[in-house]
Amino acid sequence: MKINFSDARPQDADVLAFIVTKTTFSDFTFPLENSDIVHATAKLARFEAAAGQSFLLINEEGGKLVRIILVGVADGEAGDYQKAGGDIVAKVQTSGAKHIAIHGANLSANAAAEAAYGAALRNWRMDKYRTKLADTAKPTVETLTVAGAPADASTLWPSYHAIAEGVALTKELVTEPANIIYPESFVERCKHLAELGVEISVLDDKDMAALGMGALLGVAQGSRRPARLLVMKWDGTGGSQERPVALVGKGVTFDTGGISIKPAAGMEDMKWDMGGAGAVAGAMKALAGRKAKAYVVGVCGLVENMPDGNAQRPGDIVTSMSGQTIEVLNTDAEGRLVLCDALHWVQEKYNPEYVVDLATLTGAIIVSLGSEYAGLFSNSDELADKLTAAGKASGDPLWRFPLSKAYDKMIDSPIADMKNIGGKGAGSITAAQFLGRFIKDGVKWAHLDIAGTVWADKAGPVWDKGATGFGVRLLDRFVADNFEG
Ligand code: BES
Ligand code: MN
Ligand code: ZN
Repeated sequence: MKINFSDARPQDADVLAFIVTKTTFSDFTFPLENSDIVHATAKLARFEAAAGQSFLLINEEGGKLVRIILVGVADGEAGDYQKAGGDIVAKVQTSGAKHIAIHGANLSANAAAEAAYGAALRNWRMDKYRTKLADTAKPTVETLTVAGAPADASTLWPSYHAIAEGVALTKELVTEPANIIYPESFVERCKHLAELGVEISVLDDKDMAALGMGALLGVAQGSRRPARLLVMKWDGTGGSQERPVALVGKGVTFDTGGISIKPAAGMEDMKWDMGGAGAVAGAMKALAGRKAKAYVVGVCGLVENMPDGNAQRPGDIVTSMSGQTIEVLNTDAEGRLVLCDALHWVQEKYNPEYVVDLATLTGAIIVSLGSEYAGLFSNSDELADKLTAAGKASGDPLWRFPLSKAYDKMIDSPIADMKNIGGKGAGSITAAQFLGRFIKDGVKWAHLDIAGTVWADKAGPVWDKGATGFGVRLLDRFVADNFEG
């Protein structure tokens, strides 16, 4: 879908959308032949422009029938405009309509850009494997024009567009099945970030073995697919920011559980066990795409967790790159094994001031938070507050959990430095404590457990069923608000 900003409403628009508030709606004169009929029809349908309310009618305009959409937003709430843009697209995406015009004259520049952004996000879908999709089920909308918005809207747009492109990359990586996206092909799908100025380097399994990444490689050893560590560096500061922000993603391209194998029902969901890595890649694309004035390094630990004759066994003891040893009591608690080496490596190599990791780490976080919030764990109140604020502002919300010595004790092992599972309770916290053991003194670190928010069984404001792109908007906002001066 192409997105334009123009002064006048395009002649060929066949969807005319209006975003209105409760207080302005009653006196709103639609720039349409039949403004009165629109009001009367809306009244009949009990549309009052309440926030989130929307309404579609068909009426004659310029000698042809067009769809007219009204969407209600609350006064002054930025996020509502994204949702409004998303609603508009969702209503007509496969309707046969080709060109949406959003009326921009009653919107601020910001609101107009937000609406276009929401529409761009919500429009994403993957149809490439549906060779028999009925014509009536295919997307038809080709263009969206925001008409008559303040001129600044089109100045704001390129940054929003860049973030939407980042979110789209994440959704693509998350949606692709595991026979298509595995460590090597994940790397290939990210190589185009180099065109945006991202410096890409890749460690293969031999490189990682030489570095002593026994925890990450222990997970990978049961798979035919060799592991990769993908590193994406974006420095938009011209070298003036000394220590980068590091983003680290869990990229388990498929998680069978390994020898501690998962039940068959629902195992297909584990194709999106690389959602943390997907979010990191998407965030790097967003940051580079909008030329963020910040220094950020993204690292994706990429492995497949499979149970073959070479797979690691419950009880195996592995040595991580940090030198700490781990008793692997459950091969399905693999995400922390991948992350611990990626976390240690990035601290050694880049000396980051802040480290944020994202991982579909535990089913327990879904028990706690469902799919509304992702879990936040941090050794720094300052970092936790910054991330919480960015989450709230961006639409990817976070809820903080505690860390403590008492929880940490739960992963002590009688034979090694630690074991990879805790006791009965607090599964998400003991997983976070495990990661915390690989964070150096003085480094401000946060772990985001996104197992509940990567994949949605119903459509949300700016995503369809399936991949949500969670984390990209959050990380982009976190960087924008705190590291771009
Ligand atoms: N990838 C899973 C966590 C997960 C579960 C993500 C459901 C999304 C949906 C992770 O590797 C895992 O298997 N965790 C185990 C840990 C346990 C063995 C300590 C879990 O949560 O059951
Ligand atoms: Mn697992
Ligand atoms: Zn996993």
